[in-house]
Amino acid sequence: MHTELVFQDPSSLAVPLLAIFAVDIATAKDAPPMPALLTTSDVISKAAARFLASGEFKAGSNETLLLHAPAGLKAERLLIVGLGRAKSLDIDDVRKAAGTAVRCAKPRGLRSLAIAFPEDHALSDEHLENLPYLLTARALVEGAELADFDPDTYQSDRKDKSIQTLTVVAKDVEKTTKAEIQQGFEEGLILAGAQNFTRSLVNEPGNILTPTELGKRAAAMCAENGLKCEVHSTAKLHELKMGAFWAVAKGSAEPPALIVITYEPANLPATGSPVLGLVGKGITFDTGGISIKPADGMEKMKYDMAGAAAMIGAMRAIAQLKPAIKVISVVCSAENMPDGKAYKPGDVVTAMSGKTIEIINTDAEGRLVLADGLHYAKQLGATHLIDAATLTGACVVALGMINAGLFSNDEATCDHFQKALSTSGEKFWRLPCTDDYRDLIKSQIADIMNTGGSRWGGAITAAMFLKEFVGDTPWIHLDIAGCAWLEEQKPWLPKGPTGIAVRSIVEWIRSFGVG
Ligand code: BES
Ligand code: ZN
Ligand code: ZN
Repeated sequence: MHTELVFQDPSSLAVPLLAIFAVDIATAKDAPPMPALLTTSDVISKAAARFLASGEFKAGSNETLLLHAPAGLKAERLLIVGLGRAKSLDIDDVRKAAGTAVRCAKPRGLRSLAIAFPEDHALSDEHLENLPYLLTARALVEGAELADFDPDTYQSDRKDKSIQTLTVVAKDVEKTTKAEIQQGFEEGLILAGAQNFTRSLVNEPGNILTPTELGKRAAAMCAENGLKCEVHSTAKLHELKMGAFWAVAKGSAEPPALIVITYEPANLPATGSPVLGLVGKGITFDTGGISIKPADGMEKMKYDMAGAAAMIGAMRAIAQLKPAIKVISVVCSAENMPDGKAYKPGDVVTAMSGKTIEIINTDAEGRLVLADGLHYAKQLGATHLIDAATLTGACVVALGMINAGLFSNDEATCDHFQKALSTSGEKFWRLPCTDDYRDLIKSQIADIMNTGGSRWGGAITAAMFLKEFVGDTPWIHLDIAGCAWLEEQKPWLPKGPTGIAVRSIVEWIRSFGVG
């Protein structure tokens, strides 16, 4: 999709479809809806007046109204998209509504559309203080770009309905406002581009996206974006004594990939500055291994590399946004298979850190590859760690598919991350991983076990296991099992890979006050 930003009166733009936002300005709880357009254009207001007065359109969240041949407008169609109540409006509403506009255009075969930048001063009272220019422009572009993605690349009769041109149109405004909108627009393109890259990786089937192929795609992305990338395999795992990672990898005919991506800012930060370590679970297919999963729904386990894909996507955005902080990503990729050579329940393996692990269940493989990934990231100099993984079904049981799990051993680092969420619009809910849970993973014969003795608190057990390998380093763990794949389409998103965590991780990195 080619996306452009123009400053002109939206009513004078000749496009197949012009989308415009509306809010419900009613304030009392049970008051009837009062839709109001976020435009100062009299022509547009006039064209829509009769329909708005009819009461059919209530400006509810992502509600749409399509008008053909709107009087006085150069556009062939006017699409009004509701943002919901003005009182509770935030930038995530704009992100979704922009997506809704794109997903209205696609099935109609419209290949280009324009979205009018919401004009808050169109309303007489100060309803919209939650919509700063930069973040609004960024969210609008993100929403539109993310909505253009469809996971149907392998259908041979696929009709490519992707949008060719998206125009963001803002009324000619003051120079400083223009600069803010322009910056938000550019950042939105970078963030959504990275998130869509992540989604395209997660969408790939396991037979195509093997660990080796994931390494190749990461390396190609790094070459395009000026990032340093090393892709290692079996020999390096042995050299580094990554016994936990290797235990998982050895049951597959596909060799593992240890991918290390490094971003260094142009002006080297002072020694002692933070170095961020991004660690991703990259299981390109999880059969469960010898503790094999039931057949029902197993095909979904191709997305067990969504954490890895999120980290690779985040690195792509970082390379383009260029914050003044060093970031290292360590991706541990393998296939979890049952085989004559596979690891077994009862085995004891030694992680790179030297800790011994009794294997109870070979389906709890993600924490094993991450154990070595986290330790290695520290060894490479990371002062702060963040990992993302489709780690546990238990996290989905606990939080459903709306919030992903968030765990941390450090209040300041966690606060930092939670602040980033208000900008990214992603939802993570913190769960505990305090030391009183440590007994859950005590083993009779080794230092720890790879699962808890019971199934209760399974997401926490997994986090406690990871915590063993981060030591005192401030750390965030994101369990994205329930949020990496959308089961039901939304008005603003197709079903399929979501690319969760990319935007929040990038925002967190930038919030280190340096970019
Ligand atoms: N990849 C799965 C977790 C998962 C489950 C991701 C559902 C997405 C949706 C993970 O490797 C796994 O199998 N975990 C086990 C752990 C158990 C054996 C302690 C689980 O959650 O059942
Ligand atoms: Zn598993
Ligand atoms: Zn898994």
